[in-house]
Amino acid sequence: MKIKFAETVEAEIVAFIVDEDGALPAEAKDLDAESSGLIGEALEGGRFTGKLGQQALVVMPKSASARRAVLIGGGKPAQRDSHTFERIGAEFVRAQQMSGFKSAGLFASSPQAAASLAAGAKLAAYRFDKYFTTLKDTDTPSLVELTLSTGDPTQAVEIFSSLEAEVEGTYFARDLVNMAPNDLYPESFARELGSLEDLGIEVSVLDESDMRKLGMGCLLGVGQGSDKDSQMVMMRWAGADDKDAAPIALVGKGVCFDTGGISIKPGAGMEDMRGDMGGAAAVSGAMKALALRKAKANVVGLVGLVENMPDGNAIKPGDVLTSASGQTVEVQNTDAEGRLVLADVLWYAQEHVKAKAIVDLATLTGAVVISLGHHHAGLFSSDDDMAGELTAAGLASGERVWRLPLGPEYDRLLKSKFADMRNIGGRAAGSITAAQFLKRFVGDETPWCHLDIAGVAWVEGEKAATDPAWGSGFGPRLLSRWIETNYED
Ligand code: BES
Ligand code: MN
Ligand code: ZN
Repeated sequence: MKIKFAETVEAEIVAFIVDEDGALPAEAKDLDAESSGLIGEALEGGRFTGKLGQQALVVMPKSASARRAVLIGGGKPAQRDSHTFERIGAEFVRAQQMSGFKSAGLFASSPQAAASLAAGAKLAAYRFDKYFTTLKDTDTPSLVELTLSTGDPTQAVEIFSSLEAEVEGTYFARDLVNMAPNDLYPESFARELGSLEDLGIEVSVLDESDMRKLGMGCLLGVGQGSDKDSQMVMMRWAGADDKDAAPIALVGKGVCFDTGGISIKPGAGMEDMRGDMGGAAAVSGAMKALALRKAKANVVGLVGLVENMPDGNAIKPGDVLTSASGQTVEVQNTDAEGRLVLADVLWYAQEHVKAKAIVDLATLTGAVVISLGHHHAGLFSSDDDMAGELTAAGLASGERVWRLPLGPEYDRLLKSKFADMRNIGGRAAGSITAAQFLKRFVGDETPWCHLDIAGVAWVEGEKAATDPAWGSGFGPRLLSRWIETNYED
């Protein structure tokens, strides 16, 4: 969908935001008498009061330039923030994109409102139809152009440009999460990331032999049951004035499919594990957003890409793996594979990239879905400042996080009879023991946050209009906002 900003609107659908229990907006009154009369009638007799979430459709007279008018409930003006406008833009698109009309115009009260309405609309217009071959015209959106009307289009364009970069990052993450696991495996994922070079991101790929030289025995252990070669991809964006200044590292779990390995998962619902690369998708989408909006910061994205398969050559419970850090791990459950992958990538981020701060994102534990459901990612950190920054960025971006504790009592649960640690901590506090495991590969020097996104990377069932597909693309907006607020020159 093409988005434009203009002072006036010429479109098949014209839409007006109506305050709760308020009067018809001025723009609607400015139409020809017959049209504005019909629109006025929509405020009478029905249940439309302008409450948030409501919409009323008005058929325009033949003589009018628009074919339809839509009244959108705007709620109470004092409570309207950027999230409200995103929601309104998104719900409008959800309701009208299949209407058969191609163009729509929406009247905004300010350039900020116009930009947020546009961002919500664009989030809602996302589709993933790649694998359908029999879609009829009527199964695809008719709406291809949305114009936001504002008194200052130039300012709206400027505000929207960085929001749009973030939405493009979200789209990229969604595409990656939605792709089928036979289509997106470590090498093809690495190829997809090659496209980021066009945006000025330096992309380098490490294959299994490169990683063997680095001693990345934990990541390679996870991938060894798969016929597919494991990969680690590094994406480097040098946007700061000093290109050599220490970067922020974003680290993502990229398990392109998680069968559980020899500790195999139950069959029902296993197909969802196509999304177990949601952390890597989030990092990739964030890198895209940063490059598109030319962020003035140095950021390195690192993704560990593997497939976790059962096989004659797969790792098995009892195996002891040696990580790149030198620490040994007794694998007690091959389904706790994400932390093994991250162990080596986190180590790389601090040892080789020499990051000044690290955030990792991973669909790491089912336990975090039990704790927080689908509305917050779990945040784990020993750094209160950084945890606070990410929490604030979550509220600002709408991709919210909630902090859970760390502590030596939890760390002790990782004790192994045979090695420096085991890869599971028992039934209790599963998300926390997973985070404690990661912490052992970051050390105390580097500020670090872990985001467990298992509950938010994809969602089934009832969803917000801004989140129309299975893969949510959680992450890019949060990370971009966090970097913009705290780390840009
Ligand atoms: N990828 C899963 C976690 C997951 C579960 C993500 C549900 C999204 C939805 C992870 O690799 C896993 O299998 N974790 C195990 C850990 C356990 C064996 C300690 C889990 O959560 O059951
Ligand atoms: Mn697993
Ligand atoms: Zn997994």
